[in-house]
Amino acid sequence: MRTHYCGELNAKHVGDTIIVCGWVHRRRDHGGVIFLDLRDRQGLLQVVVDPDTEEAFATADRARSEWVMQVTGLVRNRPEGTLNAEMPTGEIEVLGREVRVLNTADTPPFQLDEHAKVGEEVRLKYRYMDLRRLDMLENLMLRSRVTTFVRNFLSDHGFVDTETPILTRATPEGARDYLVPSRVHKGEFFALPQSPQLFKQLLMVAGLDRYFQIAKCFRDEDLRADRQPEFTQIDLEMSFADEDTVMGLTESMIRELFKTEIDVVLGDFPRMSYAEAMARFGSDKPDLRIPLELVDIQDLMASVDFKVFSGPANDPNGRVAVLRVPGGATISRKEIDDYTKFVGQYGAKGLAWVKINALTEGLDGLQSPILKFMSDDVVMSLIARVDANDGDILFFGADSAQIVSDALGALRVKLGHDLKLLTQEWAPLWVVDFPMFEDGGDGDGHLTALHHPFTAPTTDLASLKANPLDALSRAYDMVLNGTELGGGSIRIHDQGMQQAVFEVLNISEEEQKEKFGFLLDALRYGAPPHGGLAFGLDRLVMLMLGATSIRDVIAFPKTQTATCLLTDAPGVVSSEQLKEVGVRIRQDKTESM
Ligand code: AMO
Ligand code: AMP
Repeated sequence: MRTHYCGELNAKHVGDTIIVCGWVHRRRDHGGVIFLDLRDRQGLLQVVVDPDTEEAFATADRARSEWVMQVTGLVRNRPEGTLNAEMPTGEIEVLGREVRVLNTADTPPFQLDEHAKVGEEVRLKYRYMDLRRLDMLENLMLRSRVTTFVRNFLSDHGFVDTETPILTRATPEGARDYLVPSRVHKGEFFALPQSPQLFKQLLMVAGLDRYFQIAKCFRDEDLRADRQPEFTQIDLEMSFADEDTVMGLTESMIRELFKTEIDVVLGDFPRMSYAEAMARFGSDKPDLRIPLELVDIQDLMASVDFKVFSGPANDPNGRVAVLRVPGGATISRKEIDDYTKFVGQYGAKGLAWVKINALTEGLDGLQSPILKFMSDDVVMSLIARVDANDGDILFFGADSAQIVSDALGALRVKLGHDLKLLTQEWAPLWVVDFPMFEDGGDGDGHLTALHHPFTAPTTDLASLKANPLDALSRAYDMVLNGTELGGGSIRIHDQGMQQAVFEVLNISEEEQKEKFGFLLDALRYGAPPHGGLAFGLDRLVMLMLGATSIRDVIAFPKTQTATCLLTDAPGVVSSEQLKEVGVRIRQDKTESM
């Protein structure tokens, strides 16, 4: 039906007769001449139709936005003064000789070039229209180039593309499961995989040696801009590999991917321990483009006359920290109030501050609501500790370590963007030496796995059992610009160690057998040492494009409340269907939610 894409024509084609197909992006009537901007996935093309080609002119005159057209015509140079340097096809136009309507279209629910003013609900309901926009199509095309690159890279390195089940048993990755009732086994349920974790480990036991999969994962969790209930991982696993093997290979894959597809040369990937990341940046995925750091001051605040600070300073689970912002003394009271509200979202009960106006004037050169609570010595030690200069502002957090890290960590990123402090465009790193376990926070003393329970510790069995909270894991996360791109670990391949980790996690022997018996069995039949990693494909593509939401790189994403506005899923099902799978809906369903 066509000889070329609209968007690929250029000055080289001048003099050629071509056939193109596409959508009417715009139709303009210029006193006797009709201009049609035709659009396909490759770009826009200006078509001109003269009244002397009568039939073509009548058809072009009738055409409306988003009608589907076929045009046969001659490529010619645009007249002097009408060149459009912004458009790849801006040097040429097509003189339409034959114009056919392939399909008409109702008035679009929104103008494609005015989508920015359109609510996301409308965009998602008419997703096929939203995707028709060139930048959205470009997102999908880059995504496809990324998966093609990854498939080629991993195949070239001996990885075998292997599918793993979607109807399966729960894989614990920290979220709730999506459940599927079984018709054949009434009252029993499959879980959709939160990741292919256990299957990829079993493939290592099988001797496949190197596995990969572009894998759909399903997690019922609170959604954010970088989370979807179903998302895609670039999932891989290797046998006879240690941390350096997995990190080295995946780092070179990401490096080559960025160079090939978006012409970005990524610099060093420094390695930073979890403890250092939390101490300096209040986050296990620090954005290293921002040159601001947290500084601990528990020791200085232990005996000040301000309970808000001395309390957490004397609490082993507390933290008192400062964030020094160079040049921040110009931040207004109103802005400080706004930042105080901002940190409130992370549980902070306030945001104390000190403005450094003139250090030469000593205490008189400082301005703050809290200095009155501190001795001159403490204030001077504080100034020295953070290396403050005239024109700086210091922000304080005092609370549980978690709240202070979360609040000041997020404030650091916000200030970095608000004050335009970013020092570079790309800042990758590896975060390593994670603790094996953390307090589950339920107040019952139960521990949860920081990564997943199959991650190997750096310690031996006896010390793991004796001091689980001191144990570090052989896990690693790749972080780029403050986003966790991927995470993985060297796994436990020893059955006794796996059982010990389950015990620390308070999983009874019976439950271990019921949920993970197949894994424990497999570990007894010659499991090789192995490890791997999974990247979030959606996040990777989002970062490569500079998009702010992963919804922009997923063809048919779900809303923040995990629904699909296009198909109206999830939906109710008939009582026959429910009966078949042995499920009854509770009448009090709204109350029990
Ligand atoms: P993890 O849970 O860290 O590890 O997931 C790996 C990567 O997947 C991405 N990701 C998500 N992307 C979009 N929406 C979500 N809801 C979502 N959840 C996770 C992140 C994350 O870094 N089995 C292990 C990997 C391994 O150990 O090999 C796992 O799933 O980018
Ligand atoms: P107050 O004495 O409550 O008026 O607080 C004095 C200053 O300390 C104000 O600037 C508060 O925003 C700040 N503040 C209160 N609680 C905290 C906290 N937990 N961490 C940091 N600053 C706080």
